[in-house]
Amino acid sequence: MKVKKAVIPAAGLGTRMLPATKTVPKEMLPLVDKPVLQYIIEEAVDSGIEDILIVTNRAKTAMDDYFDYYPELEHRLAASGKEGQANEMRRVADMANFFYVRQRETKGLGHAIARARRFIGDEPFAVLLGDDIMMSKVPVLRQLIDAAEKYNCSCVGGQYVSDEAIGAYSSTKLVRLEDRIYDVLDINEKPTPEEKLSNFAVMGRYVLTPDIFDILDATPPGRNGEIQLTDGLAALCHRERMVAVDYDARRYDTGNLRGFLEATIDFALRDPQTGPWLADLIKSKAQTL
Ligand code: G1P
Repeated sequence: MKVKKAVIPAAGLGTRMLPATKTVPKEMLPLVDKPVLQYIIEEAVDSGIEDILIVTNRAKTAMDDYFDYYPELEHRLAASGKEGQANEMRRVADMANFFYVRQRETKGLGHAIARARRFIGDEPFAVLLGDDIMMSKVPVLRQLIDAAEKYNCSCVGGQYVSDEAIGAYSSTKLVRLEDRIYDVLDINEKPTPEEKLSNFAVMGRYVLTPDIFDILDATPPGRNGEIQLTDGLAALCHRERMVAVDYDARRYDTGNLRGFLEATIDFALRDPQTGPWLADLIKSKAQTL
């Protein structure tokens, strides 16, 4: 199994980050000095992905503009001796082959993924959710692709979360295969405490076989009246093998304000240009609290 294509669903309305996301797509909010979406794309590219489909909507053209060339700006930068910055602009646009499709109606994550069918064809593919930003040694998607290739099947990525948190995610029924890798027997979306299958939550990263498309086309609206990817995954894991990877990473949910602020601080602390300054600033501010 080789995984060369990825789908990034980015057609959500971003209601958890209003008012900023009224006119700026949440995927374009800057985390330190790069839009959130760039972190996702860099993880995909570092994991071996070559072709990326972004599922977008009519209000989010800033995303396709960002991964395009901008000759006027590049010339201006080069003319004023800022070749490094000009090259960086090009590098971002050349990182992968970018494709776009619009989700014309906001009908849920499963419906957004189903828009990728013609792009994907008959290959296994990756899905990366734009809210979930990872800090890790080995790119998280690479950890999933390694497991998918080893077991020759679909693979979902996640982590163990607390009893209080699991209801915000999807929970899974697992059987251990090896360190950090499990067989998935069942999965459900945003369980109540009674419905919970385990505290292992699937979060943000998936490698799927194209069999998911027939399943999603036949999946009725579920929770919130939306076509849920998780309902499709449940059907897929009942039909064919699926493994789960407990990925080795610090995960940030940048789709809500607290997660976004924490990610901003942690990434800025790690950045050599801002880290030492920010550490001093935080220490001096903490003394005044
Ligand atoms: C989505 C998925 C859910 C997953 C979560 C975190 O939920 O539906 O299964 O656990 O992302 O990746 P959302 O956070 O969009 O409500």
